[in-house]
Formats: sequence, structure tokens, C-alpha cells
Amino acid sequence: GAAELGPYRHYMQKEIFEQPRAIADTLEGVEGIVPELFDGAEVDGQPGASAYRVFEEIDQVLILACGTSYYSGCAAKYWLEGIAGVPTQVEIASEYRYRDSVPNPRTLVVTISQSGETADTLAALRHARSLGMAQTLTICNVATSAMVRECKLAYITRAGVEIGVASTKAFTTQLAGLFLLTLALAQSKGRLSEEDEARYLKEMRHLPVALQSVLALEPQVVAWAEDFARKENALFLGRGLHYPIALEGALKLKEVTYIHAEAYAAGELKHGPLALVTSEMPVVAVAPNDALLDKLKSNLQEVRARGGVLYVLADGDTHIESSEGLHVIRMPEHYGRLSPLLHVVPLQLLAYHTACARGTDVDKPRNLAKSVTVE
Ligand code: G6P
Repeated sequence: GAAELGPYRHYMQKEIFEQPRAIADTLEGVEGIVPELFDGAEVDGQPGASAYRVFEEIDQVLILACGTSYYSGCAAKYWLEGIAGVPTQVEIASEYRYRDSVPNPRTLVVTISQSGETADTLAALRHARSLGMAQTLTICNVATSAMVRECKLAYITRAGVEIGVASTKAFTTQLAGLFLLTLALAQSKGRLSEEDEARYLKEMRHLPVALQSVLALEPQVVAWAEDFARKENALFLGRGLHYPIALEGALKLKEVTYIHAEAYAAGELKHGPLALVTSEMPVVAVAPNDALLDKLKSNLQEVRARGGVLYVLADGDTHIESSEGLHVIRMPEHYGRLSPLLHVVPLQLLAYHTACARGTDVDKPRNLAKSVTVE
């Protein structure tokens, strides 16, 4: 009821602001990286499956999910290959279940789901199992769900109940769970030094504080939202680890504002979407200070040269300054590998405040459901 909303106008806003708490809860009790974090649930007093053994047996990962959960999987691919060195495929569950694929029994099948009841994701899991892939793990927000029951291993995110149809806190907690999975696999493959383990854990524990300072950017995002509310199209650009964040930002905007939004890997700009750029098409760029920044900057110049108006989420140390047609929000700190968890937050807020300005039904957008349990 309304009482539970506290100072917030909608559940979506409340859930965006709950992210520091949701991440802290999801990481609670994680003292070090051990496979046991992913052990299966106890059944009838019998201990669940051992992640230790499963991790030894697998040499690749196949991620299956839908919607926002699919995008957290897309981000995790960069971690799993870049940190753990484990070849990783990410596939939309409804595609995977109906296509001919080449199964490898040494695959860890990872489903990602807020509800644990999405029909396509469950069917994709069962399809993978029918092809002989028995090593299954879920990153899921509902401990009692079908997904958790049907997977050998599980990591339960502690986002808490998510009511807004557009997923927010479930996404960032999935990313936290997937980062832990990456570290656990890296360790079992002998690729995680003790120093790296300590450093990553420290960075993860600092996330709630870092998220809090990103949430403090809300007034600046509100100013962007006033511009966006008058537009009918928007383009989101990102590279590498932040390409999935651009995808998620575009999805959020579509879901709650009904503005047509597309995301592109920034390097693909000149292969099509540049033709769409006019002063009526705002372009959002996710620009962390990583190895690809210089490349992204030249993509941004291409947009400016065509009269496109840019909205850039830049890191504190990226030297991109606001100017005519270029709006910059500076992120409070540079966060390396975990930066997607922070960069997505202003994009959630942008979708939320644009929706408020347009007067849409934020928590229950037309035609959409929280959980899609039928095909
Ligand atoms: C629906 C929801 C999305 C969600 C997707 C997958 O489309 O509106 O917010 O990302 O289902 O749901 P799941 O529960 O499997 O994460």
C-alpha cells in the first residue's frame, strides 16, 4: 500500500533508492570467495549439490535469461571471459529453446531470473538439460521459485520483493551475484590471486556507499528528463562492459516512458544509426574512464558534427566538459570492473523521471507484466 512507499512517489523510485541496501544484503556474509557460496539448496534435510565439484568439471558457461536479466548476463560475459578466462555465451531464453545448438556437457548452464518463474527461461533450462548439460546454476531473487528447485546450484540475490514492472534493484543484485560467480570460477581455474580476491571484495563492500553517491545525482538527472520528456526517440551508446548498460538504459526508457529507444555498441554508430541523428534525437553515452574512452570520444564527435545532442555519463577523471549540445553528468568515482553497477543507476533514474514528466503509469506500464509465466 501507499504507506510502504514512504517518501517515494512510485515503487520504481523506491526500488532504485533501495539499491545500496539490496547490494549490502546480497553480499552479507560473503567473507571470502569460496565455491560453497553457490551450493545447491538443501532438500529434505539432505545437503544440496556441491559447487566445488561442478566448477572443477566445467570449462564453459552458457547464460540463459529474458529481459533485464538477459542484460545482466551480457555484462557478466565480459567478466567471465576477462577475469575467469571461461568462454561464455549469453542467449535469450526464447531463442535458445527453439534453435538447434551444439551442446557441450562441460558447460555450466546459468539461468538469471528475478522471479524464478519466467516460462521461457525455465523451458530453456529444461532444454539445455535434455541436451545432456547437467551442471546448472541460477542467480535468482526468489529462493522458493521453480528455477531454484530445478537448478543444481544457486545464488539467491537479496533485492527483496520488487513491485515495479521495470526491474531495477534485481538487476544490480544480479550483477553482484554474477561478479561473485566470476571470482569463484576464476579461483577454481587458478586465475585469482589472493591480492586480487582481497581487492575485489573490498570494492564490492564499498558498493553501497558508492551507489549512495550516485543516487545523489538525482537532481541532475531530473534536468535531463525534462528534455527527454519532449522527445519521441533516443539512442544509447556504450562500449565493452558498458554496452549492456546502454541496452538496459534503452530498455528502461522504452518500458516506462514509451519513447522509442535503441542501444548500439558505439563502434557500430557509423554502420547505421548515425543516419538517424538529428537535433530531435538525444544520444546518451555511457563513458567510464576505461581503455575504450578515446574511441568513445571520437564517436561522440561524430554525433555532435551531425547536430545530435549528447547526454554523457562521464567518470570524474574523463575530461569531457559540458558545452553547447553536450550535457555531462560526472560520476562520483571511477569503479573499474564493477562500474556497470553504478552507471546503470542514472539511466534508471532518467527513465523514471522522464516517465513522471510524461505522466505514464510508471509501476504498471501498458501491455507489460512483472512476471511472464506463460509463453
Ligand atoms: C518481464 C519483466 C522484466 C524482467 C523479465 C524477466 O518482462 O517485466 O522486468 O526482466 O520479465 O523476468 P525474470 O523474472 O526472469 O528476471
